[in-house]
Amino acid sequence: MANDNLISEAGAGAHEADTQRYDRILVLLHWLLALALIGQLVLGLWMVDLPKEPPGYRGGWFNVHKSIGLVIAVFIVWRLGWRISHPVPAAVAASGTWQNILSKLNHGLMYVCMVAMPLTGFIGSNFSQYPIKFFGTPLPRLFEPQPDMKALFAEVHELFATVFMALIALHLAAVVWHVLVKRDGLLHRMTWGRAADN
Ligand code: HEM
Ligand code: HEM
Repeated sequence: MANDNLISEAGAGAHEADTQRYDRILVLLHWLLALALIGQLVLGLWMVDLPKEPPGYRGGWFNVHKSIGLVIAVFIVWRLGWRISHPVPAAVAASGTWQNILSKLNHGLMYVCMVAMPLTGFIGSNFSQYPIKFFGTPLPRLFEPQPDMKALFAEVHELFATVFMALIALHLAAVVWHVLVKRDGLLHRMTWGRAADN
């Protein structure tokens, strides 16, 4: 790509370019999960304010959130497994600079939130008196209903959601900075580009 400084600076060969971008699967999972997680955050924030009447209305949306959340969890496990077992491009900022440290911390904490969100939601829901209905099918419960534990996990789930949203906002601000100010082609690292570059 002519306008991709990071790649053109790295030199030519397709092999060399391998480590200049995230691989196709990580790119796919990044964008699928970005969409799904933002949607899930919005759905979660919206549904908690729904009225309890008519019966089943609020619960119905809760089960949509739970079902989608469990599907998202499968993609998160896939992403983590792939991330651990495949090479990724070196960080843009030189090692030891505050940008390097902050981006690594931010990415790492976003992964922590990606694990914590479905986990706390799932465990908390298992303490609820209502079974999780996975797209209509009730799942077997893991624990007896315990309102205190359900409330505790709801708090933790909400706390992680708040931290996650702050991390995503920082992530987006960083991307905007790279695209508009630094103009260093960072966004292209998270795209498919030409077949030869991957
Ligand atoms: C829920 C929303 C999002 C989450 C959770 C998220 C998460 C992440 C994570 C964890 C990484 C690090 C990848 C790794 O090293 O494995 C990453 C990289 C990246 N993300 Fe996102 N992302 C989100 C949305 C977005 C959006 C909307 C954009 C673009 C506007 C974006 C652009 C990028 C880019 C360009 C990189 C590569 C950074 C680099 O090369 O160091 N992300 N994202
Ligand atoms: C996959 C990522 C997930 C995200 C990003 C997410 C996000 C959210 C958000 C933002 C809220 C609103 C919090 C509040 O303001 O109180 C929420 C609530 C909730 N979520 Fe999730 N969620 C996820 C997965 C799950 C899963 C897998 C389940 C259950 C299987 C679940 C069950 C719940 C429940 C029951 C509530 C309501 C908590 C309450 O009783 O107040 N979530 N979620």
